[in-house]
Amino acid sequence: SGAVAGVENIRHVAALAKLVMEKTPHLLLVGEGARLFAVQHGFPLECLHTPESVATWQRRGPEKSTTHLTHDTVTVLTLDQSGSLAGICTTSGLSHKMPGRVGDSPILGAGLYVDNTAGAAGATGVGEEILRVSASTLMVEAMRQGKSPQEACTLAARRVLEVARRRSVPVAQVAFIALDPQGNVGAACTAGTDFYYAMGRAGQVEVKPAAVIE
Ligand code: GLY
Repeated sequence: SGAVAGVENIRHVAALAKLVMEKTPHLLLVGEGARLFAVQHGFPLECLHTPESVATWQRRGPEKSTTHLTHDTVTVLTLDQSGSLAGICTTSGLSHKMPGRVGDSPILGAGLYVDNTAGAAGATGVGEEILRVSASTLMVEAMRQGKSPQEACTLAARRVLEVARRRSVPVAQVAFIALDPQGNVGAACTAGTDFYYAMGRAGQVEVKPAAVIE
């Protein structure tokens, strides 16, 4: 495992996370240290703002909640011909977030978790709610106990729902995907998330809706 968080001006943070895994004994580098590590390994410093994102910032300022923002997390789970699982999760986080805010994506066991002996799982959506339930560890451990990837994703979505109800807060938009060592897949999301996932197998790609859990 390798991850980076709170890194500014680096476009390909997933590639940087892979280098953390390959070239350091560590699992997570953050902020300035991660940026220095990137520069030392030849990553260019880039301005990643767009005219649209700057205009939105000027209009609205910093976001004060996680409720009405779009999410851009990409999570990919793979199984190769030798039966080895892998995963990647990359995001800009929450647009216009509070400086220092870190979501689920770089946190091992929240946004992503992979164990060749049990399965691979990943998440997208409101990071705070995914972190709160350690969703990806929850799914992989469920598969280890014999649940299918679909059952594991449903379990994670239900856990998010239960926690929201207990806290008397609206249910956040979250979605989960899972893959087991046999190549079975699952996907589930909370109501209102409208989540589709793409599954590629033997050169064919199918796009499917996730099961909606209410
Ligand atoms: N799921 C991405 C984030 O909340 O940061």
